[in-house]
Amino acid sequence: MAAAGFSTNVRTKEAAPHAAMLIESMRDIGYSLETALADIIDNSITATARSIRLFADTTSARPCLAILDDGTGMTEDELLAAMRPGSRNPLDTRDKDDLGRFGLGLKTASFSQCRKLTVASRKDGVTSCARWNLDEVARTNKWLVEFLDDCSGVPWIDELGSAGTLVIWESLDRLIEGDGNDARSAFVSRLDDAAEHLELVFHRFIAGERGIRKVALFLNGRQLEAFDPFHSSHPATQAGPVEKIKSGGQEVEVQTFTLPHHKKDPEGWERYAGKAGYLKNQGFYVYRGKRLIIHGTWFGLARQKELTKLARVRIDMPNGMDADWKIDVKKASAQPPYHVRERLRRIIETIGATSRRVYTARGHRLASDSRLPVWQRRQSGNEISYCLNPDHPVFAEFSARLPDELTADFRYILEMAASSIPIDALFADISSNPESVSGSDLAEDSLEHIVKTTFSALKASGISTEDAMQMMRVTDPFREKWELVANQLQDQMKETADE
Ligand SMILES: Nc1ncnc2c1ncn2[C@@H]1O[C@H](COP(=O)(O)OP(=O)(O)OP(=O)(O)O)[C@@H](O)[C@H]1O
Ligand SMILES: [Mg+2]
Repeated sequence: MAAAGFSTNVRTKEAAPHAAMLIESMRDIGYSLETALADIIDNSITATARSIRLFADTTSARPCLAILDDGTGMTEDELLAAMRPGSRNPLDTRDKDDLGRFGLGLKTASFSQCRKLTVASRKDGVTSCARWNLDEVARTNKWLVEFLDDCSGVPWIDELGSAGTLVIWESLDRLIEGDGNDARSAFVSRLDDAAEHLELVFHRFIAGERGIRKVALFLNGRQLEAFDPFHSSHPATQAGPVEKIKSGGQEVEVQTFTLPHHKKDPEGWERYAGKAGYLKNQGFYVYRGKRLIIHGTWFGLARQKELTKLARVRIDMPNGMDADWKIDVKKASAQPPYHVRERLRRIIETIGATSRRVYTARGHRLASDSRLPVWQRRQSGNEISYCLNPDHPVFAEFSARLPDELTADFRYILEMAASSIPIDALFADISSNPESVSGSDLAEDSLEHIVKTTFSALKASGISTEDAMQMMRVTDPFREKWELVANQLQDQMKETADE
């Protein structure tokens, strides 16, 4: 019986896509050079490759690009299936190490960059070679893949090992605009940028990790290095525990990292900032099958703030959750499902607190570790203020030397200085470039005077030499120039002994 409202009298008409039109549209899914290359590399990794070599001919009259792997390779039938747009059903369950989903990547990624895609593959000692030539599809309006019986003219074919696959992109109309020197050097620099991106996207495969096969990646013979965005080997990086979130019978693993403050890692500071800088690179880093899909976003759960800019959170998801996470064909975007979002929101709150500690640690030290603070931090409710400490030996000693009528004036001066801290300007400077903001430098003779006064005042109050030195050692401004200060104190003590 027909469902209510539906007629059983249905006619069908063929509405198959026009090859010439659809294949052109497939070029514009939105790949960039790096996301396109990553999609091809995904296939090589899935095919258990250990070495993936990218070759680029940037100088010849017909520039081209190739991706060669030493994976399982394909038979001619498998190659034909691989060349078919929609070669696999996205609803199929895939092997857990399979980085594919849609049966499209090889075609869509390649067409986004070139008009001629050739794939040569060797398996069981037999080499097969197939080609999509978009100009031919446009001419014939037919989904016809060309097979080459003689592949001797295929670029880099001699590099193919006993098993593996070679993907070649020719007619790079999207990659090279024009044929002048400028166009070529722009191509070279785009390749360098892409290589940098691949060092991030595949860093776990390049570095090697338990449970995945290590892969060596090369661009024109240069081996790419893993770029670990969590700087996890640095001792000052704070890594949280691995947390597991269950979702739809599957598990997502989350781990938070707070990168070192620039003071703790001046050498690595620029490198780990990444091109976009710390502010933009904070956020979640979502990995699918250990391959990075998306990074530098809090998924709208929080804003990218200066205070949390050192926070990066690794999320590991399995490929069985692709639909829940709305993974796209390019493998360049994802959205966490609702119940995972709630958990992630709470994780952001905790990491916010850790980052705040890294940033205010110096402020805390000023107020807590030091027993001789020049500045005091005061908190009452939500209000925080800073004031100059009138009990600091330098201030106290000076004040004691003043005639009575001036001691109150001196206190007013200290209060005025503290009440007019240029907070807005400081905030603006620290927000845009925290590492360049510091207190003004102390001239040598001023430091000398302050060291002398402080030490004498401490001694005069009955504190032992050792304790006085220990106190000064952990206090600004002595701490930063301790060697100089210690030398001066030695001289001062010698002088006192001589007298
Ligand atoms: N380098 C390779 N080595 C061996 N087989 C490959 C290689 N590249 C592609 N294939 C085969 O071709 C098929 C189609 O690849 P394609 O990238 O188009 O889709 P996919 O990887 O299945 O899914 P996705 O669209 O998500 O990438 C793969 O499933 C795989 O069987
Ligand atoms: Mg693929």
